[in-house]
Amino acid sequence: MSFVALSLLCGVVPAMIAALPHQDRQLSGCDISNAKMTLPASQVALVEPNATTPSFIGLAIGVQNYTCSNTSTYTNVGAVAELFDVSCLYGKSAYTSVQTAAWDAWSAAPADVTAQDVIAFFSGAPEAKNAVLGQHFYVTNPITGTGVSPKWDFTSSGKTAGNPAAFVVGAKAGDIASPAGNTSNVDWLSVKPIQGDLASQIFRIDTTGGQPPASCTPGSAPISVKYTAKYWLFGGSVKK
Ligand SMILES: *[C@@H]1O[C@H](CO)[C@@H](O)[C@H](O)[C@H]1NC(C)=O
Ligand SMILES: *[C@@H]1O[C@H](CO)[C@@H](O)[C@H](O)[C@H]1NC(C)=O
Ligand SMILES: *[C@@H]1O[C@H](CO)[C@@H](O)[C@H](O)[C@H]1NC(C)=O
Ligand SMILES: *[C@@H]1O[C@H](CO)[C@@H](O)[C@H](O)[C@H]1NC(C)=O
Repeated sequence: MSFVALSLLCGVVPAMIAALPHQDRQLSGCDISNAKMTLPASQVALVEPNATTPSFIGLAIGVQNYTCSNTSTYTNVGAVAELFDVSCLYGKSAYTSVQTAAWDAWSAAPADVTAQDVIAFFSGAPEAKNAVLGQHFYVTNPITGTGVSPKWDFTSSGKTAGNPAAFVVGAKAGDIASPAGNTSNVDWLSVKPIQGDLASQIFRIDTTGGQPPASCTPGSAPISVKYTAKYWLFGGSVKK
């Protein structure tokens, strides 16, 4: 990808890339069919699938949304994130910390730059053809018609653009607290598809940020909390 157009994006992505070692600045377009996801030992809630190979490694830059419940705690009601292809970082030194570099840049961005702005910026940029995998957001549960479900939509970005099957609407299959032990970080998750062919399993790992304050005032406005994470997608029938 070209960094010239990216520099227009209020510095978020360029600042993230600038924080990477020189040899690690190629982010997208690498073969990850032999990549192995690292999960913490001594837990069984998240298990890497054996039979399928990873098809995408995405870096998410976005927000987790919360509303204040009448018990004065925040309830997660959605998320919006742009997913960047970071397949080339796998096996390199920057892989382990790219979500932290991204979070530092994202949290330093002006307050009026929203996750939607990040998505809108890249939707028109020629560089996005390689740099962006797709978007993560919430939709009405397509099976029950009530409640919301997370969606990963790669139908209009990257190499899967134009393929109407390149999405998954999912349901949580397992979760663990962030092994980083930092209560600011949202849980790591395993997600099973309820609709779509993009993947047979999705993991959210290496989370940074995204947790709401411990308490709130009932009736207060919804909040969006910035987060970054890696999403590993496995299986699926969509050609990349
Ligand atoms: C996955 O592979 C590991 C060893 O590599 C094995 O212990 C485990 O039983 C396998 N799991 C499944 C579901 O096949
Ligand atoms: C609090 O919220 C719950 C679920 O949203 C609802 O069932 C309950 O009636 C509410 N209680 C009060 C006191 O508003
Ligand atoms: C989350 O909040 C953002 C604003 O920060 C908004 O654009 C988006 O529509 C919200 N999405 C959900 C599912 O709540
Ligand atoms: C926890 O993570 C946040 C980012 O989410 C960071 O600002 C903070 O310094 C971290 N705290 C510790 C103790 O590592």
